Formats: sequence, C-alpha cells, structure tokens
Amino acid sequence: MREHRHDVVVVGAGIAGLYAALMTSDYMDTAVVSKVFPTRSHSGAAQGGCAAALGNEEEDSWEWHFYDTVRGSDYLGDQDAQEILVREAIPVMYEMEHLGVPFSRRSDWRLAQRRFGGHLKDFGKAPVMRACCAADRTGHAQLHTLYEQCVKRGVRFYNELFVVDLLVKDRICSGMVAWDIINGGLVVFHARATMFATGGYARAWKVTSNSHSNTGDGLGAVIRAGLPLQDMEFVQFHPTGLFPSGILITEGARGEGGHLKNKDGRRFMEKYAKDKMELAPRDIVSRGIQTEIDEGRGIDGKGYVHLDITHLGADAILERLPQIREMALKFANVECIKEPIPILPTAHYAMGGIPCTVWGLVLSDTKGTPVEGFYVAGECACVSVHGANRLGCNSTLECAVYGRRAGMAMRKWTLENEGCWPDIPGETVERAEEDIQQLLEASGKENVADIRNTLQESMVINCGVFRNETKIKKQLDMVHELQQRFENIGITYRGTKFNTDLTDALELRNLLQFSELIVAGALERKECRGSHYRVDYPFRDDKNWHKHTFAWKKDGTVVFDYKPVVITKYQPEERKY
Ligand code: FUM
Repeated sequence: MREHRHDVVVVGAGIAGLYAALMTSDYMDTAVVSKVFPTRSHSGAAQGGCAAALGNEEEDSWEWHFYDTVRGSDYLGDQDAQEILVREAIPVMYEMEHLGVPFSRRSDWRLAQRRFGGHLKDFGKAPVMRACCAADRTGHAQLHTLYEQCVKRGVRFYNELFVVDLLVKDRICSGMVAWDIINGGLVVFHARATMFATGGYARAWKVTSNSHSNTGDGLGAVIRAGLPLQDMEFVQFHPTGLFPSGILITEGARGEGGHLKNKDGRRFMEKYAKDKMELAPRDIVSRGIQTEIDEGRGIDGKGYVHLDITHLGADAILERLPQIREMALKFANVECIKEPIPILPTAHYAMGGIPCTVWGLVLSDTKGTPVEGFYVAGECACVSVHGANRLGCNSTLECAVYGRRAGMAMRKWTLENEGCWPDIPGETVERAEEDIQQLLEASGKENVADIRNTLQESMVINCGVFRNETKIKKQLDMVHELQQRFENIGITYRGTKFNTDLTDALELRNLLQFSELIVAGALERKECRGSHYRVDYPFRDDKNWHKHTFAWKKDGTVVFDYKPVVITKYQPEERKY
C-alpha cells in the first residue's frame, strides 16, 4: 500500500480547508487531499455573500452582527464561538481582499455590501447592508483566490482521493486512509496534524442545493472511528431552491428586493413575518413557502411558488445577479428579467457536525476530552456558531474564520511537537482494505442508486421542513431497512481505476450512517427550535432542551449525551418577527 507523510494533511479543498493550508504552508510540509479538483469544491456554489460588519454602506457593528447571529441560532449557538466569528469577520474580510478575492466594489472602491435576511442594525431594529459579495458568485471568487495562494505557497495537492477511514487510536490521530479514485488502491496519509474540512452533507435529501459530492464522507469516517457528532437534527432548508431540483437561488435576490408570491399573486410573507417579509430568517420563510404549497396555494396547485425579481430591471439583474439568471434559464427555461422563478425550500446547510473547540480541535465527549492531532472546520464541523439555524452569509465566513484558526492551531501543535509521528493503527488500515475488497466483490441483488433515491426521497417527506413523531419514526425504520439492503448490494464494474460503482457505494455507506444520527436526533429533540420544527411539540422548550446533543453509534444503536450551551451575554428570549 502506498504511504505519504506530511506534517499537516487537510482533507477537503473548500474555503475552510484551503484557508487552513494557507496558515500552515509557510511553516511546514502541508498537503490537501480532495475528492474533487479543488476549484470544484462546494464552496464555489456559495452565491450571495460573506457577512462582516464593515459598515461600508451604512453604520454597522460587530455587536449587532453578534446579536443577529445569537438570535438567528435560536439561542443554541455557543456565544463564545459566535463572538469570535463576528469580531474576526472584519480583519479576515480585509485579509481576503488583500489575498486578491475580486469582491464587488462601490464607486469609491471600498467593498460593496448588500442586504440579507436577518442582518439588522441597532439590535434587531432595521435591515442593514452587511453581506460582502462578488456579484452572486462570492464563494467561487473566494475559492479560486485561496487555491491560487495555496499553489503559490507550495501546498501539495492530492486530487480525486476519497477519504475512507480516520486513523485514530486512544484519542490520538495519526492521519487517514483514502481511496485513489484515478489510479485505484488505498493510500495511507501519515500526519502529525490531520484536518477534516469535508463540507456539507445535504445530499441525503432529494431536493437540495448541495453538490453531488456532499455526501458526508468525513462524518462517516468519524462515526466508524467511534467518535460523536453534535446537533445533527438541525438542517437548514433554504427558502429558494430552483424547482424541482433545489439548486440555490440566492437570498441576495430577495436582498436586492425580490418578492415571493403564491398562485394568487399575493406576497404571502405578510402572513408569516409582517415586518421583515421576504428577509425574515430562513426557517420562517421556508415554513411560509411550505405552508402555501401544502395548503394548495402553490403555482397551479403544484409544489412551488414564485420568486419575482422582474421589477428590479435588466441592468440590476445583469450586474448583481448574473449567475442566478443563467441558472434559471438553463435549468428551468425561465428568463427572470421577464418572468418569475419557480422555487421551493431546499435542504441547504447542516448546522451539526463534528464537535470541536474554538481552535478546531476535535472533541470526543461532552466533557471536552480532545482527540490529539485531529482538527475540523467548515460545514462538517460543529463549533457551534450556527446553533439551531444559520444566518445567511455566516457560512463562507465560518469557513474562513474557523479554517484560519484551525490552521493556526495545527501550526502551533506541530511546532510544539517537533519530530513526533503518532503510530498508525494497523487494524484500521486492514479494516479499510477488507471493506474495499468486500465492496469490489459485492454481488448482491440490491442496487446502490435505488437505495440512495429511496433515502433521498423519504428524507424530504419524513424529515423535512415540518416534522412529527410518526413521520420521523417511519424514517428511522426506513434508514434501518436501507442499511440492511446495503449489506446486499451488487457492484457491476470490478476494476480499480475510476470505478464510480465503488465510490457511489462508499458515498452511500456514509449517507446511510450519518442520516441515522440525523433522524434519531430529530426524534430525540421534542421541541421546535430554529430549523427543527416539530408540529407535535410546537414550542421552544428552554427548560428541557436548551442543550446540545452528542450522538454516537454504539453496539448497533444510537446513544445520546448532552452538553450545555455556552452563554456569555444573551439569555434566551422569545423570537418575534
Ligand atoms: O442565499 C444565498 O446566497 C446563500 C447564502 C448562505 O447560505 O449563506
């Protein structure tokens, strides 16, 4: 088996992974391992912006951004982590500008900023322009610049390698083992510091804004290593996914003044959030849209409503929203300069993930016991800044701020532990080899694509915008049944080079493993909070549920433990919109 040794190995080449690599590459030998070519990472799909209270357009402050982030999280975010996020947003935004990110600019050449849902001034009083952007291709601009900077600094890239297992024993991490998609074969990466920045995992749903690659491969490896995941029940549904696939239509479109309308042409958000209308927090707008659809007020009674931006005019659309125009044209045959865009809520962002400290160091329990040498950042991590619901534009921001911090922490760790190479647990490598061999020889009757489709469709129905016990239990049974069926899959192509039959199966294994934790978490949490809306428990229950969930798969069942939320300033208050 091939083996590579690097001081630092980062898995994932989105904004979080690349920012971390940037922080270590001047000091130590750094490698980035990515399932896709780096600039195809899902960060490139982030459209509307990256939040920072620069105050370029109008007065703003990090304290207001902090307040919005705390309230947006429905008080489940850890406030120490949230304060770091919004304070560091400002210098990190300028650092990105100086690295060369081609942000949109004002006529005085300062960074332009736009409105976004939940961005308010004066502690919730009125909308404020806080989202820095590069038209509606913000993540794309950030991703390409960071990639160029990593190349310039000599970061070693291993592209199209699929992380299979984490190498960890007695809470000490020594690297990971990956499948080489192009050439075939397992490759051991031996590292002094290992980081997962493996991104989001909303591909468990059929209607999603996520790339096909977002299958939670890092999470699967963490579950198999016997480590916990945090707050998995919280998955955000973005209000405006293009019908029917769910491709993102940026909130920036509503920030620029777009309206949501039902079949009667009525701006229905007045019923759900009279003051904030289309710019209310995402969970509220998504529930409003879903209610219109469920109650028969979708367009022509179908499963979508309209996002109308025609009144913005061609010039504004072409300058500020060029990408969504192109996507509406290509994927829905709609010219949004002249006609409204068909949209529906889409699984967009996972607030939960691998628990870690504010320096990205992974935690193995609710007491805070770390896994030495193992770091995370970005959407696969749960630090937790987003709590029960993420504020728009805090995602690329989290990737930058916390990717950067994880990089700095890995730098410190490796410098302080010069020459220390933890032992590789041979049994984990052997298990990975056996698993791959078993999959390559699999000759059962079950089809990988069928199982995946059934999972994705049933997650939309049973674990979507509105949840209840009956549906969630049904979904848990479904996931268990699909896990059983997975044991009997068949692979038709048995070669090792670019075997997508094999990688599809590896992805499905991960989807099924982490989905179980999402659904079990949704059943466990008997309240409504942020994105998690239980119609059978229609209130937020701070007395019993103002706490984080940690979930493990142990001896065939999901077990939970709980951790208090860190409060530094704001006690939970009722959310009024
Ligand atoms: O609507 C958007 O452009 C998405 C932004 C975000 O999820 O932060």
